[in-house]
Amino acid sequence: MPTYIEDIAQYEGQAVTLRGWLANRRSSGKIHFLQIRDGSGFIQAVMSKGVVGDTRFAEAGHLSQETSLTVDGTVRADSRAPGGYELDVTSITVVGTSHEYPITPKEHGPDFLLDRRHLWIRSARQQAVLRVRHEVIDAVRDYFNSRGFVLADTPIFTPAACEGTTTLFPVQYFEDATVYLTQSGQLYNEANAMALGRVYSFGPTFRAEKSKTRRHLTEFWMVEPEMAYADLDDVIALAEGLVASVVARVLDRRGRELGTLGRDTSALARIRTPFARVTYDEAAERLKARGLPFEWGGDFGSPDETALSEMFDGPVAVTGFPSAIKAFYFKPEDGRPEVSRSVDILAPEGYGEIIGGGQRLDDYDQLLQRIEAHHLPREAFEWYLDLRRFGSVPHGGFGMGIERVVAWICGLEHLREAIPFPRMLYRVTP
Ligand code: 4AD
Ligand code: MG
Repeated sequence: MPTYIEDIAQYEGQAVTLRGWLANRRSSGKIHFLQIRDGSGFIQAVMSKGVVGDTRFAEAGHLSQETSLTVDGTVRADSRAPGGYELDVTSITVVGTSHEYPITPKEHGPDFLLDRRHLWIRSARQQAVLRVRHEVIDAVRDYFNSRGFVLADTPIFTPAACEGTTTLFPVQYFEDATVYLTQSGQLYNEANAMALGRVYSFGPTFRAEKSKTRRHLTEFWMVEPEMAYADLDDVIALAEGLVASVVARVLDRRGRELGTLGRDTSALARIRTPFARVTYDEAAERLKARGLPFEWGGDFGSPDETALSEMFDGPVAVTGFPSAIKAFYFKPEDGRPEVSRSVDILAPEGYGEIIGGGQRLDDYDQLLQRIEAHHLPREAFEWYLDLRRFGSVPHGGFGMGIERVVAWICGLEHLREAIPFPRMLYRVTP
């Protein structure tokens, strides 16, 4: 039976074999301190000359970083050890050697590390981020699965643009159609919702923005719920519940990882629903009052979002964006068509937008007008118009970017650390 470091507490006083890699080594005259990692955790293995003999002790003195090895030893409780336990080594077997591992415990620059992302993910910090990511995704799935939502997948090759035509990746392959990588599963989610009621999609989405900000990836993962018979308030309530439950779950189960990241979790622990709400109109006024050069009708830039999210203690739901800056599919406000039934949820601590969504235009004639006004090719949207021809109902949903949420919860500077292999304008390797 293999033993994993995360389960080590069950083996106190027992002989075990760990299978892993050497993360670090310090030596004093008669003792080697070997930092062992096995993917599930880290533990200090203590090898003393008196126990293993001179030859084996000397051999271990040449083990280099990231050598893969199996370690036999006895588990000993130690209150000073980070995980509460150490291993007293009886023997070591090398599985694979490692020469001049490039990522040493010293500081490296971001480009150096990103060029070696395939190795960088072995470090304690990066492992912690990726485990939080796993927990976020698991919590998202549980949230929807326990509320009657059906996971219905949406295609990645799509003939129609969902989020505007300027940020599309064309794919040259299909004979009769111009096809793009999907920006969002939403349009298909709407069809799925008319079939299944409450649905969600979860998958990679693509944006060809020429953006180099720390909040943009060209390939990111988005969860998108969609509900039939729902209005904007239903959408906001669903979004708030999701964010609160994801945060609570990570705090509950990933305290060790957040500790590794040095994350101050007090602001996360204060999050309660309902979130603060502000209309776009009010937000525009507040930004101007703060001295930011913001005019009604414009979209929030990163500095605006940061300023807004700093005005509230927890996440804030901004509603009613101008129709002119939003996608074609939003339902306009009754009696105020220049305003859309849209919502963005901004994360606190200056992290900005993590969720975008709203209520969809359910009227056939108005939708057709919007498709034409946006110069979208009508043929590609005929099937979407069918949803308004055959039993249209009020409906809505949203998209939440997984990396934005992970970056916020982990307190990361940049989205690129929130996914194993980031894809950005200037980086597609490794
Ligand atoms: O606000 P967005 O563009 O909304 C949509 O795509 C809707 N069709 C979703 C829906 O209603 N079903 O994107 C939704 C979220 C953003 O709030 C953000 O968290 C994330 O997706 N996102 C990005 N994350 C990383 N890099 C990018 N370039 C992103 N663009 C959007
Ligand atoms: Mg948005």
